[in-house]
Amino acid sequence: MPRNQYDDCWLRYDRVSDDRRESYRRRIKHAYVAEESPECSAVRDELREAIPGLLGEDVHLWQHRPETVDGFLAIGTPGDMEVIKESIPDGAVDDLDDDGYLIRSVEYEGQDCLVVTSGADQGLVYGTFHLLRLLNMGEPIDEIDVREEPAYANRVINHWDNPFRRTVERGYAGESIFDFDRLPDLRDRYEDYARLLASLGINGVVLNNVNTEYYPRGSTNEASQQFDGWRLLESRRLEDLTSLASVFRRYGIQIYLSVNFGAPKRIGDLDTFDPLDEDVRQWWREKADEIYDLIPDFGGFLVKADSEGQDGPYNYDRDHVEGANALAQALEPHGGRVWWRAFVYGSHEDRAIQAYDTFEPLDGDFAENVTVQIKNGPIDFQPREPVSTLFGAMPETDLGLELQITGEYTGQGVHATSHLPMWKEIFEFDTHADRDGSRVQDFFRGDGEGVVGVTSIGEDHTWTGHYLMQSNLYAFGRLIWDPDLDAETITDEWITQTFGADEAVLDTVREILLDSWEACIDYETGGLGLIHMMHNGQEYLENHYYPAPEEWPGYHGATEEGIGYDRTATGSGYAQQFRDPVASRFEDVETCPEKHLLFFHHLPWDHELEDGTTVIQRLYDNFYDGVEEAERLRDLWMTLEGKIDDRRFEHVATRFDEQVHQAEKWRDVITGYFYDFAEIEGEKGRVP
Ligand code: GCU
Repeated sequence: MPRNQYDDCWLRYDRVSDDRRESYRRRIKHAYVAEESPECSAVRDELREAIPGLLGEDVHLWQHRPETVDGFLAIGTPGDMEVIKESIPDGAVDDLDDDGYLIRSVEYEGQDCLVVTSGADQGLVYGTFHLLRLLNMGEPIDEIDVREEPAYANRVINHWDNPFRRTVERGYAGESIFDFDRLPDLRDRYEDYARLLASLGINGVVLNNVNTEYYPRGSTNEASQQFDGWRLLESRRLEDLTSLASVFRRYGIQIYLSVNFGAPKRIGDLDTFDPLDEDVRQWWREKADEIYDLIPDFGGFLVKADSEGQDGPYNYDRDHVEGANALAQALEPHGGRVWWRAFVYGSHEDRAIQAYDTFEPLDGDFAENVTVQIKNGPIDFQPREPVSTLFGAMPETDLGLELQITGEYTGQGVHATSHLPMWKEIFEFDTHADRDGSRVQDFFRGDGEGVVGVTSIGEDHTWTGHYLMQSNLYAFGRLIWDPDLDAETITDEWITQTFGADEAVLDTVREILLDSWEACIDYETGGLGLIHMMHNGQEYLENHYYPAPEEWPGYHGATEEGIGYDRTATGSGYAQQFRDPVASRFEDVETCPEKHLLFFHHLPWDHELEDGTTVIQRLYDNFYDGVEEAERLRDLWMTLEGKIDDRRFEHVATRFDEQVHQAEKWRDVITGYFYDFAEIEGEKGRVP
């Protein structure tokens, strides 16, 4: 199928303006990409794709070093070409890490040239995509001098894709793009996807769902098993994966697998998966050897253990350290890593406090190649949560931050909800923990650390199920490359590359995206820190899309007297898991920020907030304001008719109607529910 330009997301490479074309052309008449590595062949392919689109002419790609041509782009290490060596200061590249690069406009023997250089092929891929981003955005390139390195060593996407069934847990963009049954046959979509990720600097992809097994409620027999992700560790499946690994390898992306902790028993012929059993440890070693024989740059394992029904070390009375280290010892000789999730709940009345209780005492005991992967908040990707208390609490352990790119709780790919402002809030939060920096973003900067995002990429031609929600994938990648980039810069980059440089489009889409998260918080939660009021039903994996506060009374704590969850010292104590002054700020109702108020406190409905408004009135107001805001954002979108292509205009407009409708539903269901308890009518006609 011919590629449709809308499906290229931000890699559209539309023709630049004539002025720009002149100056770009001067430096990019010819190009020379030095190495013969897989990464450099990917760089060449990208230039072949991009330059004709941007400049309307092919670029002459030299196979050997041109000596006489004018104006050229040179991509390579300093040792590869004289022009590169001469145009950068001695040692400048040696100081960069492998993913880092330099881009410079230079004059070389009287010619205008451009240089992209790095000490490693990986950096050349990133440098090339950076340059193409500048061209795509129509930025001037005559005086560029860029030096870049990523903030985090591991920048990883987690797929919750269910192999062989091609479903995606919490995915809202259709089937899984990975057709594991047809591997080793490859699809064009793999390459397109790898390009999108590499353009953002992503360097790892976990291919399958953390839930590698699942038995419907009440059933444990093998025949009723509904997920088969655990099968990916079978030998024939591993062989199939080599082709997929080679696609990602060209873009410097390592593949990882979510593995089932019970695999030695399930796949192997052992009758135990006790992590301290020597046969079990040997089984993991042999499995790791087998994998690395096939895929030498394999990244490692992601594990969800003893969580929501997945097997784990608790089956044998072992702890998370014993579990994680058993897998780590197998990967260690190959340089592989275990990403061990800290998403555990069920044994504590308040699930918020459990991860800290479970993992903080284990600090320092995990093997060197284990990373503890922690969700941003203590509950589960709610529209807004305070940050996890584990950040800063495990100084002797490598940590990973897990964010959700897919919108499980923010409108499921139907609502236009940008997660970027949320991620900025999380990243900037000051834990006051004692480390080089104490903001959340400062905790993942070690070699074995990083940030991962749960994605919802799918077969849908939009990739994300909603054109505007491509921006969340883009923002995730850019933010974890450089957490100091502000939300506006990242958003503008995405809009300009995706929709072009029209000022009105830029201003409008920016306003929609940057205001969308607060709107969603208001119409889904009332903006005072309440969480988990969505529909679930009895079955696992139900939708989480509709409001249903009556299903989870424990989370919001509504009674006739009041609302909220007491997580202070007299309640569950979550506030006390923070360090001071954070702990005392949350502990005290007077200093607790309003946005988290009811997360930490149970208050009477008529408790007065700082401005004299009661809690119930503020909730009503926020729910109503949220809906009005959703309407305003829809109206803003409608002003774009004729300014962008009909296809994307209509697609988003339709979803905005549904978003507004849903927002009203959330407002009415939840305010009505609160009203039944409080029996207090709202002002300004905001009476349920
Ligand atoms: C949430 C989500 C599940 C997922 C789980 C996890 O509970 O709804 O689908 O499996 O998080 O992160 O493991």
